[in-house]
Amino acid sequence: MTEHQAPSTAACRICGGTVTQFLDLGRQPLSDAFLDEARTGDEFSYRLAVGMCGRCTMVQLMEEVPRKLMFHEDYPYHSSGSAVMREHFAKTAKRFLETELTGSDPFIVEIGCNDGVMLGTVREAGVRHLGFEPSAGVAEVARAKGVRVRTDFFEERTAREVRAADGPADVVYAANTICHIPYLDSIFRGVDALLSPRGVFVFEDPYLGDVLEKTSFDQIYDEHFFLFTARSVREAARRFGFELVDVERLPVHGGEVRYTLARAGARTPTAELARLLADEDARALTEPATLAAFAGSVGRIRNDLLALLRRLRDEGRRVVAYGATAKSATVTNFCGIGTDLVECVYDSTHAKQGRLTPGAHLPVRPPEEFAADRPDFALLFAWNHAAEIMAKERAFRDAGGRWLLYVPAVREV
Ligand code: SAM
Ligand code: TMP
Ligand code: ZN
Repeated sequence: MTEHQAPSTAACRICGGTVTQFLDLGRQPLSDAFLDEARTGDEFSYRLAVGMCGRCTMVQLMEEVPRKLMFHEDYPYHSSGSAVMREHFAKTAKRFLETELTGSDPFIVEIGCNDGVMLGTVREAGVRHLGFEPSAGVAEVARAKGVRVRTDFFEERTAREVRAADGPADVVYAANTICHIPYLDSIFRGVDALLSPRGVFVFEDPYLGDVLEKTSFDQIYDEHFFLFTARSVREAARRFGFELVDVERLPVHGGEVRYTLARAGARTPTAELARLLADEDARALTEPATLAAFAGSVGRIRNDLLALLRRLRDEGRRVVAYGATAKSATVTNFCGIGTDLVECVYDSTHAKQGRLTPGAHLPVRPPEEFAADRPDFALLFAWNHAAEIMAKERAFRDAGGRWLLYVPAVREV
């Protein structure tokens, strides 16, 4: 958005208030729509811009992408691709098993169970569970682990069916999924129908506080419809008869918060929640000036990254990328990074290999070829998995290779 354009507005998906745009990341492809080489002419695109509601402070996209275009048979993201995330979800499952799932015949429902990375542990414990997963490919992987999966979108209608067939749930859990869902009203009505009187609705998603602190603008893409704060989640919960009772900051995926909601009045809010709400106020997280400053920093990162990549190209250095993340679609397409600046991207996901990244059309290659290829620089698109990837690819740096990062600022390591 230039200074001369009037800011565009949209209706808030939570409260109907006015959402005012604060950042425009241009036209973008679907972030997870990897292409076969033969089919590069007909990519879907939409305008990726983000704004904040002046009434309830929810940060959200200005334009919604139809869910069936994103979540389908070929959805390529496999949650179990990271050892750190496998560990994170095993711990999460064990925590539920020791706390909320200790009654006589407990029941947990997961929204967006993907390949069963969390519910696998619940199944091993023999506890009653159900995963909702509309993307049939990853749902099948979960099923092969013995996880009980319904290949469907969780929403009011499907939640009511589960309530009728299986009874109330003690826990409804979702990781990196609730922020993907613009129709949150239907989700809340579904949880209301399904949850037991003292049950908890727990979800974890990228935190606006971390996005602003790190200038991680690549957390903004089609699938990330909402960017939550404790304040905006508290407000949304209240509108649907729930209460935010606890929060926990998580280091995964570049900084997330796990929100625990209960029926209004059913549980006592924690001191941790009061602390985070006070911290958000002190940081003026959802003040227009804070968001405008963020937008300015995003523009600077784009300029710095392009300047660096162009210099390296002009010096004849070989630059590749690592991690064909959904996030990287925002970076490549907003900055205009194509094969002239970055040769290819290495990624361990079989479903992405041999294909082209959306929009930018960088070829995706298996990581086994990375070491042999001996590039000079590797742009780390999967910066949220930096420790795991840098440890795995130690030989790259030992041989003189350098990692390039752009969050929170463009730099070599
Ligand atoms: N929970 C996993 C994790 O944290 O790694 C998977 C996260 S993945 C980014 C989001 C998942 O949510 C996808 O597998 C997608 O198919 C699923 N999803 C999207 N909308 C959904 C809905 N309404 N109900 C259930 N799952 C949904
Ligand atoms: P994410 O940031 O959305 O979790 O995506 C991470 C991407 O990076 C995913 O496509 C898998 C890939 N990846 C690797 O190629 N090697 C690794 O060691 C890890 C952890 C991820
Ligand atoms: Zn609102």
